[in-house]
Amino acid sequence: MLKFLKMIKLLVANWKANPETLTEAVRLAKNIDYTGVVIAPPFPFLDGVRKVIHKAKLAAQNVFWSDGPYTGEVSANQLKKLGVRYAIIGHSERRRNLNEIDAIINKKVTAALNNSIKPILCVGEGPELHKSGDHSKVLRFIDNQLKLDLHGIRNPRGVIIAYEPIWAIGTGNSDSTEHVSKVVALIKERLGSVSILYGGSVNPNNADKFMSIAGISGALIGGASLKSSEFKKIISISKRY
Ligand code: PGA
Repeated sequence: MLKFLKMIKLLVANWKANPETLTEAVRLAKNIDYTGVVIAPPFPFLDGVRKVIHKAKLAAQNVFWSDGPYTGEVSANQLKKLGVRYAIIGHSERRRNLNEIDAIINKKVTAALNNSIKPILCVGEGPELHKSGDHSKVLRFIDNQLKLDLHGIRNPRGVIIAYEPIWAIGTGNSDSTEHVSKVVALIKERLGSVSILYGGSVNPNNADKFMSIAGISGALIGGASLKSSEFKKIISISKRY
């Protein structure tokens, strides 16, 4: 019987530091409030979005590992109490712009799990490694990120892995299915049956190719998640799988 159950694809809308106002955030959230959608607004809009969604779930774009004297941070505990179910952790924009290193990412993943928040751990190689064309080096790089970021985590199945090749994020250049499949195989070999998302310039024209990759459970979507007409097209494409 089980084989007839269809898994709904997970589509994570990573709004980054957008939109400008709560009014716009609420309007956008109402438009993409569907089952399988996870909305990750900036912190100031989390509560407003939470109040208007019924089918979509809420994600934070970051998380801190403790309450207390940590100016500017928001703890996993506070997020849990607000109704946040997922947290994007280790996004390349934070690794690059804020020097977020693997040891910090590891603490965040651990804190999220301890607070029943599902981490969406982002991994992926940068443009230099991509340009080298050395696939085994790319796989070793991702393998190392997984090892460091998930250090000490006994049950990695509670973690969602987002494979986001950095050179594909916000550039319009998405990855090839062959390469994504190799990365999926590596992640499964290391972690077993975890959920894996692809992220990097996903749009209505290429969503089909990513959703059809075996082992891909959905997508992490930046730019196209800010235009509800585009995002809705991706939702309907994802329903075919
Ligand atoms: P993009 O962003 O879809 O705009 O490439 C993806 C991401 O950064 O998560």
